Amino acid sequence: MKQTLLLLPGDGIGPEVVAEVRRLAGVVAPDLELQEGLVGGASYDAHGTPLTDDTLDLARKSDAVLLGAVGGPKWNGVSRDKRPEAGLLALRKGLDVFANLRPAFCFPALVSASSLKPEIVQGLDIMIVRELTGGVYFGTPRGIDEKGGLRRGYDTSIYTHPEVERVTRVAFEVARGRDGRVCSVEKSNVMETGLFWRQEVTLAHAEHGAGVELSHMYADACAMELVRAPKQFDVILAGNLFGDILSDEAAMLTGSIGMLPSASLGDEGTPGLYEPVHGSAPDIAGQGIANPCAAILSLEMALRWSLGREKAADALFAAVGSALEKGARTRDLGGELTTRQMADAIIAAL
Ligand code: NAD
Ligand code: IPM
Ligand code: MN
Repeated sequence: MKQTLLLLPGDGIGPEVVAEVRRLAGVVAPDLELQEGLVGGASYDAHGTPLTDDTLDLARKSDAVLLGAVGGPKWNGVSRDKRPEAGLLALRKGLDVFANLRPAFCFPALVSASSLKPEIVQGLDIMIVRELTGGVYFGTPRGIDEKGGLRRGYDTSIYTHPEVERVTRVAFEVARGRDGRVCSVEKSNVMETGLFWRQEVTLAHAEHGAGVELSHMYADACAMELVRAPKQFDVILAGNLFGDILSDEAAMLTGSIGMLPSASLGDEGTPGLYEPVHGSAPDIAGQGIANPCAAILSLEMALRWSLGREKAADALFAAVGSALEKGARTRDLGGELTTRQMADAIIAAL
């Protein structure tokens, strides 16, 4: 049977970068069947909801899903449960892709594109494993209301044993394919979920951590260490919120957030969800200047992690590196290329 990849371009620069993914897929995996659907604001505009049951069904039946980006000022007035971002969260939850892999890899050609000194980022290769379907993102109760004459806003940070254990096991597995070191990040000094996280990760390590060196760090210290000496890290394991923040920070070590892909994985047999780490970039949307590398590298991760096409993935990764080596740069990297021209340079390198 043909393998299928569901493309969900979304909003803002999403459709611009996913258009290039479509072209690249045609070159490196021409027999892959590409399907397409709406998500985010685009789905809200068409159907009044940021994720329809049909699209979620289609996603569940695909071998992998690649999403561009969702959100934008156009939907600022929409109620939270109908906002573009709610569609993305519902897709992650609906697919139960609980382990979000966010590599921060500095291509040799981009060593001087980082805002940090070249010697700090040269050879950088970190993998952030972010828990994606729990924590404060999904905890209840949450709300904005009034109690005793006092207006208030609140969220609930909560993690259960299976939630921490399963993502920790993925982090160990990922580490075994790398340098074998996991640094677990939380704020156990102030948060009960932080203390619980540390306890659970420690237990999981005793049971499933053979061959993996485990360390712990407070999230604020980790934020600092990421810009002080980022190469000390191999795999960083974090909950949903800290993983979100630290991965944007790590993105900038690599030169631009336009470079960072991600893979969200569930249990065996679940289709993986692949997305650039960046958002819909409303400030540059419609201009054709977005960096398509994060989306193209998300295709690379889909080929590797869901579609069993390691050779195609290797070729694509090498082509991105060699296009950069030859000087191909979009504006975020200090160059002049358009989105299309950047993808052309990668195709030429293939
Ligand atoms: P953003 O990532 O969209 O943009 C941050 C900055 O990075 C902007 O200056 C933007 O121009 C730049 N940038 C991002 N991607 C780029 C690319 N590929 N090439 C060049 N420059 C790029 O973050 P934001 O501005 O905080 O959020 C904008 C919207 O996107 C919001 O609605 C937010 O909720 C949403 N968002 C969606 C996702 C997602 O769909 N996975 C992720 C993050 C943010
Ligand atoms: C990301 C984004 C999302 C998140 C938003 C848009 C829901 O910031 O993918 O990093 O917070 O997870
Ligand atoms: Mn984010």
